[in-house]
Amino acid sequence: RTRLTVPALRQMKAEGRRIVSLTAYDAGFARSVDEAGIDLVLIGDSLGMVCQGHDSTLPVTVDDIVYHTRCVAAGLSTAFLVSDLPFQADATPERALDASTRCLQAGAGMVKLEGAGHKLDVIRFLSEREIPICAHLGLTPQSVLRLGGYKVQGREEAAARKLLADAKAVAAAGADLLVLECVPSALAAEITAAVAIPTIGIGAGPSCDGQILVLHDLLGMNSGHRRPRFVKDFLANGGSILGAFQAYAAAVRSGEFPGPEHGY
Ligand code: KIV
Ligand code: NA
Repeated sequence: RTRLTVPALRQMKAEGRRIVSLTAYDAGFARSVDEAGIDLVLIGDSLGMVCQGHDSTLPVTVDDIVYHTRCVAAGLSTAFLVSDLPFQADATPERALDASTRCLQAGAGMVKLEGAGHKLDVIRFLSEREIPICAHLGLTPQSVLRLGGYKVQGREEAAARKLLADAKAVAAAGADLLVLECVPSALAAEITAAVAIPTIGIGAGPSCDGQILVLHDLLGMNSGHRRPRFVKDFLANGGSILGAFQAYAAAVRSGEFPGPEHGY
């Protein structure tokens, strides 16, 4: 296997091959994730919760992401690597370019940022400077203070129309991928059909072009929070950590995961 590329990810959508994705934060797990044939690995700012023990992603810094990106990059040989831009690292195009450059120089092949609105200018600015970008819509955890919690987004008709418009807008602005987090399955299916770029779902039902989970959730590690509906413990029947990653990859590729019970 050779390392996946941005065009290869788009080709997977065209051919209906699901993009199996997982977060990782260090070289040891990255090695196993790679061995299991996971297509895409995200250094998520979820590391603020699962590694640092905070109750949100807001305390995570660019230095943290760059450190973990280096760790993960050292363990990967074939998976495509995406780094999250942490809270306010994408507040202006210039800040985002600085942070993205550091992530790419640390080994990432793409950066991810949350939201549309003024972020469309940031996406445009980065993409014009040859930085591959993954957008992230629906539940955007960096908005937790104003959202008032981690809730499903786009349930009401007006909110659903806004999400669809935002998805088209981030794609038009130059995003190469789109994460959809905690949106109704029917809406995620509609968005996936409406944009040419691949969608990666988490709590977004079975119709996205790919799926992602937080590593700790897939291994059944309880973060102290209520386990969301879209999480499945693959270690329970996987027998080993590598087996759990392989079981997850197989279940996503066959369309067995996520099932209707994992969606909204
Ligand atoms: O930070 C993260 O792990 C994420 C994924 C859950 C999409 O953004
Ligand atoms: Na994130």
